[in-house]
Parts: sequence; structure tokens; C-alpha cells
Amino acid sequence: MDTLGRAKISVQAVTKRFSGKRGQVTALKELSLDVQDGEFVVIVGASGCGKTTLLNLVAGFEKPSQGRILLDEEPVTGITPECGMIFQQYALFPWKTVQANVEFGLKMKRMPVKQRRERAARFIDIVGLKGFEKTYPHHLSGGMKQRVSIARSLANDPKVMLLDEPFAALDAMTRQVLQEQLVRIYEKHRKTIIFITHSIDEALLLSSRIVVMTARPGRIAQDIVNDLPHPRNATVQLSSRYMDLKRTIWDSVQAEVMKSMEVEAD
Ligand SMILES: Nc1ncnc2c1ncn2[C@@H]1O[C@H](COP(=O)(O)OP(=O)(O)O)[C@@H](O)[C@H]1O
Ligand SMILES: [Mg+2]
Repeated sequence: MDTLGRAKISVQAVTKRFSGKRGQVTALKELSLDVQDGEFVVIVGASGCGKTTLLNLVAGFEKPSQGRILLDEEPVTGITPECGMIFQQYALFPWKTVQANVEFGLKMKRMPVKQRRERAARFIDIVGLKGFEKTYPHHLSGGMKQRVSIARSLANDPKVMLLDEPFAALDAMTRQVLQEQLVRIYEKHRKTIIFITHSIDEALLLSSRIVVMTARPGRIAQDIVNDLPHPRNATVQLSSRYMDLKRTIWDSVQAEVMKSMEVEAD
């Protein structure tokens, strides 16, 4: 089937304004972005440039002030169950066990108990938490909590996964383990993913495409295909192609960070 021009997610000339105490803030201005089925798009950009706003709009938590967003060619008009959102803070139910957290969305969908128990067990296993089914979140480390969020999201089988700096609060080693796990999950399940990070190395490790946003109001500054070979191990990270990409993205992000500082100084 010819899928050309039929993006999985199509953000079309979206402007988003917020009215705050000090008047209006334009978070995004006429931003357009198409994401194809199975792409792993990583978005980087200065703090406050509108990255979270963009994800909230795609997930249907917020509505555009202008423009529109299509998911599978249908306008997003409210919260979209097809989008699984994963936040920096784990957003688990503290009073529910790992298993009950992972099962939650399935229960909401009225999946029979046996079926949802099996499905939850499968995804708990995939994220390496077998044996922790009956554990409560406060007994888990940050990395383990984030793995529960990922398992919960995967169990719901979302068409699209939206991840907002999911590993930012984790230590370097845990982060690396989860990055590798996410790559494996992506390669196996081929979800369409939009992932936000501050880390250019994380972007280069994970993505099939990297989008740099401008300083607020957010638009697309650069859109780069990440053609680094897999697995993106130490050898790849020392290659000249890696260095070139890193420099290009770094220059672009830095230019925008400088601009955002000027905006703040106004
Ligand atoms: N609900 C809101 N009300 C008012 N202003 C907001 C709201 N959400 C975000 N903003 C503003 O929009 C801009 C973009 O925010 P955000 O999307 O969180 O940026 P990022 O995730 O890139 O750091 C910021 O200036 C922020 O203060
Ligand atoms: Mg944010």
C-alpha cells in the first residue's frame, strides 16, 4: 500500500498560546511536523521552548489555538487513548502493586482478568521486573518505577508512545540500561515514538530522526535523519559521523539556547 503523505502524526501549522498572569505566552508558533509510522523521533530544544506543550497537544491534553493535529488522518479532538504518555515523574498509583499498575488500562478497557493478568506478566517480564509483580512503587528505585510506566504503556498497546524526558531523573547507569531496553522494545514492536530529551547523546543513541526546536515560540529549527548504524555501541559513538551529527545538533541547540536567554532578558 502506498503510504506516502499519510503520516501517523501530522502537526499542521499549530500555534499554542497560554494566558498567564503576565499576559499571553505563545508557546508554539505555526509549528508543522509529520511523523511517519514506525519512526523514532527525538525532540531536543532549550528549556521552555514548548516541547512538553507539543506532546500535550498530540496526546490531546491541550487544544491548539490555531492549526490542527491529525493522528492516522483523524483530527485529535480530545484525550487519545491511542497515545501512551510517559513522564519524567513516574505517575504510578502508589497504592497499587506493580501488577495492578500495569493492568490498570486493561481493566479500564474491561479486559477479562485472566487475559489482563497474562498480558501484564508479559510486559513486566519484557522490562525486566519479573518477580516484582506484588511490590508497591515505594519499594522500587526510580529506574524500576520508570520501567513499570513503560510496561504499563506497552501493555495498552498504544499506536504512539510519547515520552517527555523519561530518563532525566535517573542516574547514568540506570539511564543507559533503560535506553538499551527501549531500543530493543522499539526494534521488536516498532511503535511510533516521540521522545523528548535534553541529552544530544541520548538523541543520537535512540532516534531515527532528530528534531531541534527553536527558542520560544517553538518551531522546527532543524530536522535531521539519524543514519547511524545499529547497535549504536562505543565504536559508533567514536565514529566521525557521530561526531559530525553531534556537532551539528549541538550548534543548533546552542544557538537557540542563546536566543532563549535573550528573550528572557527582555
Ligand atoms: N498551562 C500553561 N499556562 C501558561 N503557560 C504555560 C503553560 N504550559 C506551558 N506554558 C509556557 O509555555 C512555554 C513552553 O513550555 P513547555 O512546553 O513546558 O516547554 P519545555 O517543555 O520545552 O521546557 C513556557 O514559557 C511555559 O511557561
Ligand atoms: Mg518540558
